[in-house]
Amino acid sequence: MASFVGLAAARSEVLLRAGWDCARDGLFGAPPVTVYLGAQAHASVLAALRYLGFGERQLIAVDSDEQGGMRPASLAQALRRTDGPAIVVGQAGHIHSGGFDPFEQTIPLARERGAWVHVDGAFGLWARAAPALSALASGVELADSWAVDGHKWLQIPYDSGFAIVRDGAAMQRAMAISASYLGTGPRDARNPSNYVPELSRRARGFAVWAVLQALGRHGVREMVERHCRCARELGQRLLQEPGIRVLNRIELNQLALTFGPTGASQAERDACTRQVIAALQRENRCFVSGASWSGHWIMRVSVISHYTDTPQMEALAAAIIRAWRCARPRQQAPGSGPGSRGP
Ligand SMILES: Cc1ncc(COP(=O)(O)O)c(C=O)c1O
Repeated sequence: MASFVGLAAARSEVLLRAGWDCARDGLFGAPPVTVYLGAQAHASVLAALRYLGFGERQLIAVDSDEQGGMRPASLAQALRRTDGPAIVVGQAGHIHSGGFDPFEQTIPLARERGAWVHVDGAFGLWARAAPALSALASGVELADSWAVDGHKWLQIPYDSGFAIVRDGAAMQRAMAISASYLGTGPRDARNPSNYVPELSRRARGFAVWAVLQALGRHGVREMVERHCRCARELGQRLLQEPGIRVLNRIELNQLALTFGPTGASQAERDACTRQVIAALQRENRCFVSGASWSGHWIMRVSVISHYTDTPQMEALAAAIIRAWRCARPRQQAPGSGPGSRGP
């Protein structure tokens, strides 16, 4: 929904600049709007675009680097393919790698083309709360709108998301609901229904306020830094174990892992990784999930719970290594039953 709100403001505004008022004229017959987004954009962004009337033919996927970030040269080339209203959707924190777009390069390119830039920063935007990590998202402040979650790194219960739009008037033009019975409230008071799709909704902001009061600026920063340190420690520990690979550069809190004996084919590694995930889930002490990324089946590790620190990482590393050592002999000697456990 946060991306939906940012992109709704984007869509209406780029059309308004082209002389088309969505509020008055609707969308049918509007000038075509092109949306440029990284080839590895999160599925929820595609859904938000679909709700806003964009079909696949209006989307241009821009090549991404090995961390899932948009390649500036590919964006520059893609932007030359169309003229007219445009939106560029960037990403701060790739779901598997934690990677970022190089915003200092991509946003000026988009701006030059007159595009609105929206950034999906579901969890990665919290890097800005930690000075040691802030540079990962350098230039993100140049965007026009940002989506970020409370229910991920900020530890708020589901659901909690923030849509931040630089141009408040554009946001209100896209979202405001008015009716005589609602009144306007005291002069200058903020009317929440001017900024979100719903008229009635619970006080989501209360939980956010409470968590920010409890953690404070320092607490958020400490937590984000700690989780990133934990992710690095876990990566270092796992890399000591033959057969375990870390596919991503661990810059944030994410690890993408694969498993397989030396010389294993891609299919064998994928099968092995699935077995390790299943073994870990059977043990039921740590939770990890799988996904397909960059041609591999990976184990996803996301370090994000407030209570996680080095001891939990040591337990997780031990559990992953245990699961891998169990899976390895079964894979090497098919037919050996579940009783034949490895060291
Ligand atoms: C980069 C990114 N964007 C968007 C989302 C979607 O967030 P939600 O599940 O809160 O809608 C996620 C979820 O993991 C994500 O990692």
